[in-house]
Amino acid sequence: VLHWHVIGELADFIEGQPVRRVIDGHEIAIFRVDDNLYALGDRCTHGDASLSEGWVEDGCVECPLHQAKFNLATGAVERRPAKVPVRAYPIRSEGDVVSVGI
Ligand code: FES
Repeated sequence: VLHWHVIGELADFIEGQPVRRVIDGHEIAIFRVDDNLYALGDRCTHGDASLSEGWVEDGCVECPLHQAKFNLATGAVERRPAKVPVRAYPIRSEGDVVSVGI
């Protein structure tokens, strides 16, 4: 069962400034690209790095440590060295209110 957690307002999420939030014990990186929001597990599956500190480009986030790439929408690995996808969380905005589903 999905539980929706309100995490802020749309204006709290700024393109080019991913944020890390801990929601119900889950470390989640939240990204905004144009008017789209994405939420991924923050911890890189390859090592000890935070994807909220990564570089966003072409629908992916690049890990700051060894430059693995993960798809923002699905969490799939788009470039090694990571092999295991990160979890992608559903995220939605209703009016200005942003929620993540866990
Ligand atoms: Fe992310 Fe190595 S820690 S690619």
